[in-house]
Amino acid sequence: MIDFKKEAAKMLKQHIADVQESEILSMIEIPPNPNMGNYAFPCFKLAKTFRKAPQVIAEELANYIKPNTYFEKVEQAGGYVNFYTHKATLVHETLKDVFEKKEKYGSSDLGRDKNVIVEFSSPNIAKPFHIGHIRSTVIGNSINRIYKFLGFNTIAINHLGDYGTQFGKLIVAFKRWGNAEEVKKNPIPSLLKLYIQFHEEAEKEPNLEEEGRMWFKKLEEGDEEALKLWQWIREVSLEEFNRVYNMLGVSFDSLAGESFYSDKMPRVLKKMEDSNILEESQGADIVNLEPYGLPPALIRKKDGSTLYITRDIAAAIYRKETYDFYKNIYVVASQQNLHFEQWIKIIEMMGHDWAQDCIHVPFGLVRLEEGTIATRKGRVVFLEDVLKKAVEKTKEIIKEKNPSIENLDQIAEDVGVGAVIFQELSNNRIKDYTFSWEKVLNFEGETGPYVQYTYARAGSVIRKANVVLDHEINASLLTDDVTMEVIKAIQQFPEIIIDAQRKNEPSIITRHIIDIAQTFNRFYHDHPILVEDEELKKARLAIVYIAKQVIEIGLYLIGVKSPEKM
Ligand code: ARG
Repeated sequence: MIDFKKEAAKMLKQHIADVQESEILSMIEIPPNPNMGNYAFPCFKLAKTFRKAPQVIAEELANYIKPNTYFEKVEQAGGYVNFYTHKATLVHETLKDVFEKKEKYGSSDLGRDKNVIVEFSSPNIAKPFHIGHIRSTVIGNSINRIYKFLGFNTIAINHLGDYGTQFGKLIVAFKRWGNAEEVKKNPIPSLLKLYIQFHEEAEKEPNLEEEGRMWFKKLEEGDEEALKLWQWIREVSLEEFNRVYNMLGVSFDSLAGESFYSDKMPRVLKKMEDSNILEESQGADIVNLEPYGLPPALIRKKDGSTLYITRDIAAAIYRKETYDFYKNIYVVASQQNLHFEQWIKIIEMMGHDWAQDCIHVPFGLVRLEEGTIATRKGRVVFLEDVLKKAVEKTKEIIKEKNPSIENLDQIAEDVGVGAVIFQELSNNRIKDYTFSWEKVLNFEGETGPYVQYTYARAGSVIRKANVVLDHEINASLLTDDVTMEVIKAIQQFPEIIIDAQRKNEPSIITRHIIDIAQTFNRFYHDHPILVEDEELKKARLAIVYIAKQVIEIGLYLIGVKSPEKM
């Protein structure tokens, strides 16, 4: 792809002897309004050197640079030289780029030899995978795909919440009131019931809490009965989670959860002791974070057992030693901001300068229209149910639109699940938002189904045309405003991906796919494709092809499928 900005810098350099080309390049701006050109060179800084008014310098430069294959117009406006890219060249270059790179368009080797850990999902076993968990899963999956697409070596980790006092409680509850058959039949709901029962009973019988703590202690010490029960609970929970991951098309490279670090604790605690940051407080060990304006962190309880935060410190050290990461990313709700601030600070206090490479990527809450989510009270919305409902509803909509469609089940799954994912990734991740069926499944709004439908329609036009597609077409047939909008959106796509990666913000891609779909639909509405004129037909088909290709890549990067028909 031609770097138009660089070409502009080269041309300017020929007439500005005193400034380096690289500096000229860095001065070039992108005007907010394309009426002012695609690139603009401000001449204000040159006024002193040249002892001339900026307008005069701009005028002289604009006069020197004649229209050429890169820029069809070069104009002075105030103190700026405005460059207008040569439309047909831009069309030709963009087509060529997409046709050549196909599903790799926009990918790069930016991240070559760099290991990036993306930790996401991380549900708690024996607890439902609820709609709140979908955010981490879906955002993290997309971030993982984006980094990979840009050449990073990614390691997707599911830091399962499979350890801690709650498992002591669960063991107690199971031993007292549990029934293995029931748990096997309906794992999470019945484990959840036991957990709730524990808390109800504990209000009447306070020593239950103590018993729970004792059983967790046993688990940490490797007690056989405790281990066996815990392992079994973990297994049945994972089976349920895997069903959801399959539906979402999500997979992990590692399931090293909290329990994975249990035998790594002594060494980590020793390291913390050696770096003199542990303080004793009422028999427990804490780290004083007051100098950093943070509350103290409890690292080891009186009875010697460790905590969530201790396991995060151990996990980070283990990951650095095992993967020598370039970045260690955590996709975790913003409710845990303080937790991440605390332990990342502790890593820094231990003398690890890589603390700054541990990055918490927070996100806001999901609210459900009907009410809130609360495991304790038992009013839970299970993610699996939400996805199933999305698929069911989609099936009805598609059946109505297209009664004779083949493969309805698969398509309804791709569209229904895709709709939920798409909606999740439509807004800035940090924003709280309300989940609404109407918004999710609207085929005409800025939704997944709308984009997928655009994709399928492009495919059907190409199938109908039944010609060999090629980028060697007459590009001057494609320089009208509406078509140029499509071209520009597609040409920007590679930069959009990099922007999304830098900000760890998949919604940047989602918004851009919507943009491509909308401009494409305007193009499709204004320009009949399958026209008599062969040359024109082939030119327009080339646009259909690249729009379809780029939508597919974009959907892939946010974890959404692209069904060929719907
Ligand atoms: N299991 C935790 C929860 O559901 C999230 C874990 C986040 N990851 C971490 N490394 N702390 O709240």
